[in-house]
Formats: sequence, C-alpha cells, structure tokens
Amino acid sequence: MANLFCVKDKVVIITGGAGILGKGIAKHLATEGAKIVILDRAIESGKQIVTEIKETGGEAIFFLTDVLDKEVLEQNKKDILTKYGRIDALLNAAGGNMAGATIAPDKTIFDLDIEAFRKVVDLNLFGTVLPTVVFAETMASQKEGTIVNFSSESALRPLTRVVGYGAAKAAISNLTKYLAGELAIKFGEGLRVNAIAPGFFLTEQNRALMTNPDGSYTPRAESVIAHTPFRRLGTPDELYGTIQYLISEASKFVTGTVAIVDGGFDAFSI
Ligand SMILES: NC(=O)c1ccc[n+]([C@@H]2O[C@H](COP(=O)([O-])OP(=O)(O)OC[C@H]3O[C@@H](n4cnc5c(N)ncnc54)[C@H](O)[C@@H]3O)[C@@H](O)[C@H]2O)c1
Repeated sequence: MANLFCVKDKVVIITGGAGILGKGIAKHLATEGAKIVILDRAIESGKQIVTEIKETGGEAIFFLTDVLDKEVLEQNKKDILTKYGRIDALLNAAGGNMAGATIAPDKTIFDLDIEAFRKVVDLNLFGTVLPTVVFAETMASQKEGTIVNFSSESALRPLTRVVGYGAAKAAISNLTKYLAGELAIKFGEGLRVNAIAPGFFLTEQNRALMTNPDGSYTPRAESVIAHTPFRRLGTPDELYGTIQYLISEASKFVTGTVAIVDGGFDAFSI
C-alpha cells in the first residue's frame, strides 16, 4: 500500500513559517519531500530557514508577506504559482499573543486596552481569513487542497490573562468548521480544512509568561505543568506528525476537526 502519509512534492505554504513552530514544521515537511513556501514578515529568519532546508537537500522558498494585507498576499500567490504552478496545502501559523492585549494579575477586565485587543484579533483571526481567501481560490480551481489553521488551548478553555488571544483562537476553531463545509459543498471533497490546537510549547511569544529571566519556570508555567497529565510542556517536534497527517491522504475523510496536541491538558480535570 502507498504511504498514506506521503507529502512528497506537495507545495506547502506556511504563514508565520519563520516562527518557532512554523520553522520546525517546515524543516520536517521538507525532509519528507514537500516543497516549502515560507511566508513571513521576518525576512532574515525566513531566508535563513530556506538556506538550512536547502543545505539538507530540501526544496524551499521565502516570500515576504503581511498576512493582514490582501494585495501583498495576492502578489505572493502569483509568485508561488510562477515558481511551483500549484498550491497543495496552507498552514496558517502566523499568529500569537501580544503583551498589551493581556490582563495583568493586578488589573481587571475594566483596564482592557481595547486597541491591543483589536490588534491581537486582527492578527490571529483576519491573519488567517485573508490568506485562506487568497490561497484557497487556487485550491478551489484545482479541486484539491488542504488547510490547517492554528487554534490553541486557550480557545478550548479560556486561560487567565490572554483574553484577546483566546477569543481570536476560539473564532479560528469556529471558522475552521465553517470553511470545511463551505469548501467541500461548493468545490468538492478534495478541499479539506482542519485545525490544530497546540497546548503549551515554549516559544518567543510566551517566553516572558512562562519563564523567568534565569530560565526557571514562572508560577504560571508551574501551574500549566501541574494541570498536564504528561507533567511537562510540549516540544515543537510533537506537532509534526499531526500536521503531516492532516495534509496527507491519511486524513482524506477528515475535515472540520480541531486536533488537540497538549499532553492531556484539555482532557484533564482533577
Ligand atoms: N507556542 C505555543 O505554545 C502555541 C500554542 C498554541 C498555539 N500557537 C499558535 O501557533 C502559531 C505559531 O506560534 P509560534 O509559537 O511559532 O509563534 P512565533 O511568534 O514564534 O511565530 C509567529 C510568526 O508569525 C510571524 N508574523 C507575525 N505577524 C505577521 C504578519 N502580520 N504577517 C506575516 N507574518 C507574521 C512572525 O514574524 C513569526 O515568525 C501561532 O498562531 C500561535 O498562536 C502557539
């Protein structure tokens, strides 16, 4: 039987592909033979990842983007189609929390900075809607393509402090289900949309919340670990298998799901 999880020669766009989770996923999929398109606003690290992928014999290209700018995304699409001629998968990984959009322990919801809240919703929700609208059009014309959105544990169980981020990620989970129906009904079962909800992975966006300057865990990280049956944070490589599954034939009857990858955090009560 053919390898159900094969991603060889698939053209995979990763927005936020220069970030901690995105770059690990990019490198993994490249080693499996996928052609990787890194879209990010971080030029240096984006190009660096392409270099590293090429050094190990993989295929990758970087394009500067802003996931909030449809014109730029349309230009990205033209450039990608010129280079590779098709788009097989879109991973909407650009996103993250923003310090100003949180409620500090000594503050309340009445201190909320509404502009910061708007910005975090913009990046995490509109920053997924816009690339989806632009790139899924190509998938619709191909009658084939898979999308993986990045939700979060905070969408499933509101976490203290990250009020705007959690709301935006909850919207991503809902949008994922909406798009699954919309695209399959109108363009056929070749189009699938799923999401992953990563639990707690130490990356730049949460480092200040999870670690002290000396690297030790903050009380918040200790509390996360205490609530996780695996008793530890995740490492980015623990997302690779789920992503590969969701963009390969292995999941060909799977759409509209949110795959939770969290060491049991969501399932656990007491
Ligand atoms: N790290 C975690 O524990 C965790 C948990 C759950 C969900 N997530 C989600 O996973 C995704 C990746 O997270 P990460 O930890 O790798 O974050 P990260 O901050 O390391 O990477 C995010 C990337 O997005 C890029 N980006 C930001 N705004 C952009 C814009 N307007 N246009 C283009 N690129 C832009 C950044 O340059 C960066 O490279 C995010 O959506 C995040 O919310 C992360």
